[in-house]
Order: sequence, then structure tokens, then C-alpha cells
Amino acid sequence: MKIRERFVFLWGFLRDAPRIGSVTPSSRRLALAVTAEMTSPNGARRILEVGAGTGVITREIVSQLRENDTLDIYEMNQLFAKHLRKEFGGNGTNGQVRVFEADVISSPPTGKYDHIISGLPMNNFRPERVRSAFQTFIKLLSDGGRLSFYQYIFGRPVQSVFVGGKGRRRLREVGTIFREFIDRHEYRRVPVLRNFPPAVAHHLEITSDKNSNSH
Ligand SMILES: C[S@@+](CC[C@H](N)C(=O)[O-])C[C@H]1O[C@@H](n2cnc3c(N)ncnc32)[C@H](O)[C@@H]1O
Repeated sequence: MKIRERFVFLWGFLRDAPRIGSVTPSSRRLALAVTAEMTSPNGARRILEVGAGTGVITREIVSQLRENDTLDIYEMNQLFAKHLRKEFGGNGTNGQVRVFEADVISSPPTGKYDHIISGLPMNNFRPERVRSAFQTFIKLLSDGGRLSFYQYIFGRPVQSVFVGGKGRRRLREVGTIFREFIDRHEYRRVPVLRNFPPAVAHHLEITSDKNSNSH
């Protein structure tokens, strides 16, 4: 990863820590684990990445794009969206990549996707917003579509040490919502210990028979 990219990320974090959620971008190992299930064998794939930051995961997605695949990126931070446009929006990706500077939960896209890859810092969200994020993803996925995201190992317990009782309650509720969606839809998880902090990549498959209670 370029040094400049690290600085852009750190600068973004210093200006808006709660929405960025991490002081450093994901490692390449985590990016590989989160993109490992972009495997659908036939046809053009429609991919959505949300919360792309400075594009560590985007770079892995782009390297796996096939000729007719498309990648839409939703990133609400102005600085990061500008950086992503410069890095990925040009001729190098043949117009397959579009960058939207927008909040994916309140202004979601209108189309359907085969795969969503999320880097949203949902441990910093209110529980209702976490639920809305999962519901938005489920609405945006075609039947059998996949959602991949990561969580830091012990992320919520560690965060709990630094917050008061209200914060701990919020984190417990957020954890319950995560478990609900993971228990219902997860088919694979991959621990990535060589990341700071160590993380787990989760892969969920959304089929119409299992998502009837998610709305
Ligand atoms: C922890 S960073 C992840 C960056 C990158 N995916 C990585 O793994 O290094 C979270 C990113 O999500 C973005 N974000 C947070 N809430 C968002 C929302 N509702 N819609 C779009 N982007 C959002 C933040 O601006 C930030 O860039």
C-alpha cells in the first residue's frame, strides 16, 4: 500500500473518527479473505462495495473483475471518494467502476447486485442503523447473492472497556443484531490473524427462503 494512501486514511480518521472506525486500512490478507467468495462462475457480475475507504479492498475486487463485470462503490467520506475516483474511476478499469459519494443506508442504489462487500464500521452505529444496513444489503442482493464483510476479533468487548454503561448496552444490542443475521445466512468464515486488529471475514448467502423474516 502506498505511503500516501496511509496518510489519506489517517487524515480522514482524524477528521471523522466515528464514521471511519479504524485508524488504519485493512491489510492485503484481510482484503483477500473478504473478496475470496466473488466466485460466481457464469455471466457478468454486479458488485457493490460500501465503505471503501482508501481502496485496499477495492484494489482486490478490481483485480478480479472480468470483462463485463461492474463495480459500484458507495463511500460517504468526501476525501476518500475523491481518492477512489482518481485511483479506480479512470481508463484503467474500462468504465466498469463507478464511485458514488453517498450514504448507502439513507441513499441506497436502485439496482440489484450479485455480491456486496462491506467495510462499514457498524460497531460504531446505533442498533437501528445496524439493522437498516443489513436490511438494505438484503434488499439490494439478487436471490442467492452474497454479502461479505469483516469484524475485528474481540472488537466489541475491547470497545466496551472504553465506554460507559449506555455504550456497553448499545454494543450488546449491536452484537445481537450481528448474530441474528450471521446465524441465519452465514456459510463461511475466515479468520485473519495477520491484520491489525485481527479480524474475521464473514460470507453470507441471501436466499429468498431464508430472508423472509429479515425485513
Ligand atoms: C473502517 S473504514 C474501511 C475502509 C476500507 N474498506 C478498509 O478495509 O480499509 C469504513 C469506511 O466506511 C465509510 N462509511 C461509513 N458509513 C458509511 C455509509 N453509511 N455509507 C457509505 N460509506 C460509509 C467511512 O467513510 C469509511 O471510509
